[in-house]
Amino acid sequence: MRIKDILFSEQPPANASIRGWVRTKRDAKGFAFLEVNDGSCLKNLQVILEESLAGFETLKNINTGASVMIEGNLVESPGKGQKWELRATSITLIGEADAETFPLQKKRHSDEFLRTIAHLRPRTNKFGAMFRIRSESAFAVHQFFHEGGFYYVHTPIITGSDCEGAGQMFRVTTLPTAFVPPQGEAAFEQDFFGKEASLTVSGQLEAEAYACSLGRVYTFGPTFRAENSNTPRHAAEFWMIEPEVAFADLTDNMVLAETMVKFMTAHIMENCADDLELFAKFVDETLMSRLNNLVNSDFARLPYQDAIDILKASGKTFEFPVDFGTDLQTEHERYLCETHFKKPVIVYDYPKTIKPFYMRLNDDNRTVRAMDVLVPGVGELIGGSQREERLDILQQRMADVKMDTAPYWWYFDLRRFGSVPHSGFGMGFERFLMMITGVSNIRDVIPFARTPKNLEF
Ligand code: 4AD
Ligand code: MG
Repeated sequence: MRIKDILFSEQPPANASIRGWVRTKRDAKGFAFLEVNDGSCLKNLQVILEESLAGFETLKNINTGASVMIEGNLVESPGKGQKWELRATSITLIGEADAETFPLQKKRHSDEFLRTIAHLRPRTNKFGAMFRIRSESAFAVHQFFHEGGFYYVHTPIITGSDCEGAGQMFRVTTLPTAFVPPQGEAAFEQDFFGKEASLTVSGQLEAEAYACSLGRVYTFGPTFRAENSNTPRHAAEFWMIEPEVAFADLTDNMVLAETMVKFMTAHIMENCADDLELFAKFVDETLMSRLNNLVNSDFARLPYQDAIDILKASGKTFEFPVDFGTDLQTEHERYLCETHFKKPVIVYDYPKTIKPFYMRLNDDNRTVRAMDVLVPGVGELIGGSQREERLDILQQRMADVKMDTAPYWWYFDLRRFGSVPHSGFGMGFERFLMMITGVSNIRDVIPFARTPKNLEF
């Protein structure tokens, strides 16, 4: 049986067999106690072993970290903290863990240390909780969109176009390291695809094609960015949720983003209460009030120009000065939602100069129909926009920023044949997990983090 099914049962069966890893062992007179965890939930099952038990002598080889199988009788626990405990009738040591060298002894370890043993950290309470929440959050994404009539599209991982136009792409090649192309020939002509290939930074452009066919779609997959910024909020490989909706304008897009974030937050509060409580206790004391506030408040909405005015009038000295045309930095984003509005904020109509080519140009000719959702504790959670559906304006914009338009012929076709207004956004899945747990470093919300100069595991 899984420990979760035992501990959360009103009346479990009289006998059970469990398998898991020993968290602690305590010896008493005539007895031993084991705390066993099988990963199914935060709580351990307490196991009592009497000295008379066959195989009791193997206990001397059973230390923290060992894997065991135990059969026994489930009885009501007289002790505090658990409803049921297991009186062992047999115990089998499956895999030993050496007490001298097993790195996860019963004490508090720093996040930095645990990152160096990312293969073992899910065996701690904190990271077990984190990755159960991560799994449940992914499920919530699919449930939300499924219930909303969206179709799930698998957009490609290897791509020939740069969606964000920011040149932060990882190259994909099969050419040998020292390959020198024949005279006058570009290297990629000899390459696997016969042209330059990269890992995708976003599934948006392909999602647009499917929104302009199936109506409402979303992608949810890994994305890759070679931004060389070693920050607590950026990873080179992260997961992104990208809905795309035909016939939707920027306001519809804001409503969708707000509804999705609230749905996912409420889902985790309801379905991962135990795991979430750990973060509220040990990581961020304000977590539950922040999440309740998020679920129950209307997100503030304001144009970029107003955000700039608020920041300028704040009297605060920021590391990065603000003025129309500057990108909002994390310090600005956090000031807006943590200090000024004290709730999530949607900033829209950004200057076109700081946003990608595909965003719909406003009539003022200097701002675009962009929106970012900023949340307390994290800053930018979501980036999205209404897309430019007018072919001539799109092409002009790309020419202005000197893009090579050849790879985008199919993207233009979407504007040539039955073009429609449409909108979408991308939510960083790890940013969401940081928000929902209060964990401040992206390396601690993804199983095996990929960051500059770090490719262990
Ligand atoms: O704002 P971004 O760059 O938007 C896009 O990529 C659009 N094509 C999305 C769309 O409209 N379909 O990225 C979207 C979100 C950010 O708000 C942030 O949460 C996350 O992706 N993100 C990252 N998360 C972790 N590490 C990184 N390096 C990230 N870069 C962006
Ligand atoms: Mg962005």
